[in-house]
Amino acid sequence: MSPLLAAIIFSCVFGASHTAPQEPLQAWTEDVVSYSGFQLWSATPRNQEEREFLLKIRQDYELEVWKEARSDNSPVDLLVSPDFQTELKLRLADAEIPYEVTISDMQTAINNENPNVTDSGDEFENRFSHKMDWNSYHRIDDIYGYLNYLADTYPRLVQLVSIGSSFEGRPLYVVRISSSSSGTKPAIWIDGGIHAREWISPAVATYIIQQLVEEPSNERLLQNVDWYIMPVMNPDGYEYTHTSNRLWRKTRSSTGARCRGADPNRNFGYQWGGKGTSRDKCSEIYHGANAFSEPETRAVSNFISGKANQIKVYLTLHSYGQYVLIPWGYDVQYPIDYNDMKDLANKAASKFRLYKYTVGNSADLLYPAAGGSDDWAKSIGIKYSYTVELADTGNHGFVLPASFIRPVCEDFFPALEVFVDKVATLKV
Ligand code: ARG
Ligand code: ZN
Repeated sequence: MSPLLAAIIFSCVFGASHTAPQEPLQAWTEDVVSYSGFQLWSATPRNQEEREFLLKIRQDYELEVWKEARSDNSPVDLLVSPDFQTELKLRLADAEIPYEVTISDMQTAINNENPNVTDSGDEFENRFSHKMDWNSYHRIDDIYGYLNYLADTYPRLVQLVSIGSSFEGRPLYVVRISSSSSGTKPAIWIDGGIHAREWISPAVATYIIQQLVEEPSNERLLQNVDWYIMPVMNPDGYEYTHTSNRLWRKTRSSTGARCRGADPNRNFGYQWGGKGTSRDKCSEIYHGANAFSEPETRAVSNFISGKANQIKVYLTLHSYGQYVLIPWGYDVQYPIDYNDMKDLANKAASKFRLYKYTVGNSADLLYPAAGGSDDWAKSIGIKYSYTVELADTGNHGFVLPASFIRPVCEDFFPALEVFVDKVATLKV
């Protein structure tokens, strides 16, 4: 090793420890976190040796990983702070690992993501009694306002159920959509916004609600099936990504330490605390103090448990990567009815026209990660349980421009028909 490189590595290891990228200094002062100068890099290790080298680099610099997959030649997306870009460039070049800079300035990408936030003010609100649309990403008040509007306007079809309160006291809303007043039809559950920064997820979930409730041509989808849709499971985190830190992932609960929040998708009570989770409160995959420590996951588990016989499909919307992921996710293990699950997922994925989704076992395609909501739903007997990683594959990642909302929603919606046809055949 050259003395220069040795010096660089030395300085990195010790230089890295004082700034954890996920908790920049500004978070202390309630200011808005700036990602000015941060870049998204996409590195492609081609063999085990290169994968291990990349892992080492990630640890040395405490790099935040945006996306990773297990297979060789599939890129790892990394958020790189301006402090380390020069050093990292040298180390990757030295190891001959190919990489490209996919987002050259994260703050610019964030500034351009959501340009036409509905500011049509009173006029818009008077005309429609709500501020929701699918041309921009909306604050939680707009989303909740829309849900309340639907419940008021279509009382025979829509019931707005508050299943609990978030850590910061926001209602946790589930929309029940049913063409009959009694809940006896087999049902589909869909949730979005478990992870705060994955903005496309609540956008798609609310679009599904809009289509089912307000589009008469979709009436068929309500004939034999009831729907429970929770568009924002983690409203505190979601709101925080709008006001303070665009890239926040977790809940906002206090941990008693410097860092707030647990990863809600590591907090469910099946194989809790296993692989792909962390006990470090500052980690992006902190599993929480115990299973269901977060009020949000606890409320969801209580509600779904009470309807475990009725709910036949559990769909949870995340981003990004374009995957339909099948349990188990806690380890490379396959449920006994894995092939049934895979057949249905393939059928659904065949409906996508604009975006190609990869179908497969979660731990296999991505990485083992315990305490996920999909595994928990499967464990209580909901046969068809999936995690969907929506668009894109990494050009924009979490910061998917608002102009993509409609295409992604419209591409996804027709796949629901496949689940409806399956669920309609099942007995409650
Ligand atoms: N990207 C998701 C996450 O890390 C994938 C979850 C898949 N499901 C699982 N049980 N590991 O939370
Ligand atoms: Zn996610």
